[in-house]
Formats: sequence, C-alpha cells, structure tokens
Amino acid sequence: MKSCTLTLKCEKEMDCPKEVVMWNYYDHEHLVGTHFKLYYKARVLAERDDWALVYREPKIPGIPISNSGLALQYMEGDVMKTFHKDWLGFLLEMEVHFKDLPNDRSLITVIYKMNVPQFYKIFEPIFKWAFRNWFEAAWIEDEPMRLRRWKVYKLGFKDFYGIDYINKRLPKSEKTEVPKYKFNPPIASFSTINKTEGMERPFSKSFELGYND
Ligand SMILES: [Fe+2]
Repeated sequence: MKSCTLTLKCEKEMDCPKEVVMWNYYDHEHLVGTHFKLYYKARVLAERDDWALVYREPKIPGIPISNSGLALQYMEGDVMKTFHKDWLGFLLEMEVHFKDLPNDRSLITVIYKMNVPQFYKIFEPIFKWAFRNWFEAAWIEDEPMRLRRWKVYKLGFKDFYGIDYINKRLPKSEKTEVPKYKFNPPIASFSTINKTEGMERPFSKSFELGYND
C-alpha cells in the first residue's frame, strides 16, 4: 500500500540552557503533575541511561475517549528521538533538537512525523492543527518549570537536598560563577512511577501549580 508521511515542525526559544530542557523531557513524573490536564497516568516500564520506555494515558484535547500508548525515548547527540505507539495503532515519531544560544538561552525544535496510508494525506491539516495545539499547550505548562529549575540551580539547588545556604541558614553566597548545568539521565525518583502501579494525576483541577513567581 502506498504511504505518505504527515509532518509538523514547531520551534521556540527558551530562557535557559538546552540541558535544562532535556531534563524536563526525562522528568517523567511531571507528565501527571505539570501536565495533569494532558495525562491521566504514566508509568516508567524500563529506563537506563538516556533510554526510557514509558506507558502513558494521555487526554487528547477535543476527543472524549481515553487513549493509552507506549513511548520509547533516547538521545542521539543533541537530538532526543521518541517513538509513540497508541492503541489506535499509529506510530508517531518525534524528534526534539536542542541547541544552545548565547546568554544561557536555547532553541528547541520539535518535529512530528507519522507514516500513514496515502489516503490519510487529506487529514494532514488536522494532524498539524492537533499536534501544534498539543505542542503549544505542553510548552505553556513546561516553560515555568524549566525557568524555575534554572533559577534555583543558579542559587545552588541540588535534587533531594535543596539549597545549601538556606539549609544551613547562612547568608546568601556572593559567588556568581555558575557551573554548567549537566543533564545526567536517568532522573532520580522516589515516587511510584517506576513501580507496577505507576502514577496517576493527583488532581483534575488546579489553579496554577505554584509557578506564580
Ligand atoms: Fe513537559
């Protein structure tokens, strides 16, 4: 059967280094927290270094039926490759290209591709509309999280430890040199996301998530 590839490219700049954004893509818990409007449930089935196989139950905007699928993600240099397979049988291939810009900024380019029978070509405008909406909705929710991570990292924040001078009730350090942020997957977690039960979204409604600063 003749096939064709539906494609969409989305691009945005971030006010933080690319490694912070990479961390965000590997912080699987935030799927049901930050993106509680987009996901019902997530479970990490297997994870090693930058390879992760994740079960997700996304809520597709405008479609009142539940969905579920598997996604494999891994890094090739500065590109994260992801393969999503949902219960409808479609295979969505996503690439996220990370590029650092001057002044601790970055350019993030996301390319969505879906190989389908030629007949489906007429649905490409809907494909582009749906995935652009998804990209924009997720970006709006991710952006404050990334900026907050970068902000607290510059203050000396370490996972599961906090900020040293605050923990020790010391005056704020005058040190201005910030070591390069290092993305070092897998991301440590103490939650149930790696266990059989996975993680469900903790709420269905919330006014902001504490990202109001
Ligand atoms: Fe996200």
